[in-house]
Amino acid sequence: MTDHSATFEAVRAGMIPAHIYNDKEIFELEKGRLFSRSWQFVAHESEIPDVGDYVVRRVLDDSFIVSRDSKGEVRAMFNMCLHRGMQVCRAEMGNASHFRCPYHGWSYRNDGRIIGLPFHQEAYGGEEGFAKKGQTLLPAPSIDSYNGLIFISLDPNAESLKDYLGDFAFYLDYYTKQSKGGLEMRGPQRWRIKANWKIGAENFAGDMYHTPQTHTSVVEIGLFREPKAEKRKDGNTYWAGNGGGTTYKLPPGSFEDSMRYVGYPDEMIERMKETWSPEQLKVIGENGFMVSAASIFPNISLVHNWPKVEEHSDEVLPFLTLRQWQPISENETEVLSWFVVDKDAPEEFKALSYKAYLMCFGSTGMFEQDDVENWVSLTNTAAGSMARRLHLNSRMGMKIDGSPVVPALGPDEFAGPGEAHVGYGEYNQRHLLERWVDYLEREPNEVDAVSIGGLVRGNVGGTTCDSPCGDATTEPTSNQEAVSR
Ligand code: FES
Ligand SMILES: [Fe+2]
Repeated sequence: MTDHSATFEAVRAGMIPAHIYNDKEIFELEKGRLFSRSWQFVAHESEIPDVGDYVVRRVLDDSFIVSRDSKGEVRAMFNMCLHRGMQVCRAEMGNASHFRCPYHGWSYRNDGRIIGLPFHQEAYGGEEGFAKKGQTLLPAPSIDSYNGLIFISLDPNAESLKDYLGDFAFYLDYYTKQSKGGLEMRGPQRWRIKANWKIGAENFAGDMYHTPQTHTSVVEIGLFREPKAEKRKDGNTYWAGNGGGTTYKLPPGSFEDSMRYVGYPDEMIERMKETWSPEQLKVIGENGFMVSAASIFPNISLVHNWPKVEEHSDEVLPFLTLRQWQPISENETEVLSWFVVDKDAPEEFKALSYKAYLMCFGSTGMFEQDDVENWVSLTNTAAGSMARRLHLNSRMGMKIDGSPVVPALGPDEFAGPGEAHVGYGEYNQRHLLERWVDYLEREPNEVDAVSIGGLVRGNVGGTTCDSPCGDATTEPTSNQEAVSR
């Protein structure tokens, strides 16, 4: 395997070897060292509200059934039959008390336990030959949630999601906790783009600089109240914990004025005041910054924006969206895009907000089309031999000696955690790729395999087991315990 240390060193210095955006070997490293360890978003609880509801989601090549079992507990189970490895559930979403494998008919409860094994006695000699009691579809090694967002990690020793998000949770609340009622998520719309997954994640994390150029036409047709896209330079970019994003600077006014300015009705504003902390309110009401696009490392992004949605009206209306950049290969990404709205919002608001989302960031959204053209072209250009000779400058916002062009905002200018700078900079793109290097530099840990139904290591063909064969527990207690059998 190639020694990538020079590449990693360059990235840490803010100089990005262009080939990382289309390099098979780098992608293999990402699979083995990054996506096998980081927390990966799989679903929101509102997608599986009732007992038996499920969705099927992937972490790269691994398919998982995310279900609400008969006791109401959320589970994530590796979607591979314990018999010959067929994908057990082939539908994308639905409601089921159990899943039956299409190949030979083994069936599993919606908590993963085997309940049906055709010809158990005749084919295996019953429980003695193949202990089916206590066998479950492999649970995701770690599962955790925040504001109803369900994440899994392939690392059984993953830190808690709360620790992983760190101070970014402060900003995530703006998108996912606008009231005590929580969220409603619709979708996802899915489509594939011939672009490397990192480009979108970097763009949403902090690229306010592309807006005036890439999205000129969206401003020209008057979709936004702000007359000029250049207005983006008055906002700030912030990075906190494991994520960062961009903001717009609002005209002076109270918290209520600011929320009304972006189109929220008073009843929603009242609920936000009850839900958010004094500091969260202060960022908007006193500091005058409103969150816009953001990314959570490595591959989740969020958007909050407020276009005009109705013709012949100057009124704007806000929308929220969450998306995942699901890597397919080094040069292809599946985008999963959800519409996000506060569950307690008025129905009319929900309908218009959905329209605003589709117009801007749905699969045919105006921003979407502008952005993807750039990213596909960048990915193609990164594949050639000349790209291997080019280190892109990702040092915007920083002078040659490493000092900032614009000093970070002080606590009386910005009440949010982390570090924030007004104006154009690539602080967040650098943070994102520095974390990427942190993961890619570390060797993966060995994880033990799980043997199904009796035979374990060292007794193939024998009749005895050197550790308990299919213990008699009948109920998987939790994902974590079930996987560490
Ligand atoms: S592979 Fe599933 S029952 Fe055989
Ligand atoms: Fe964009």
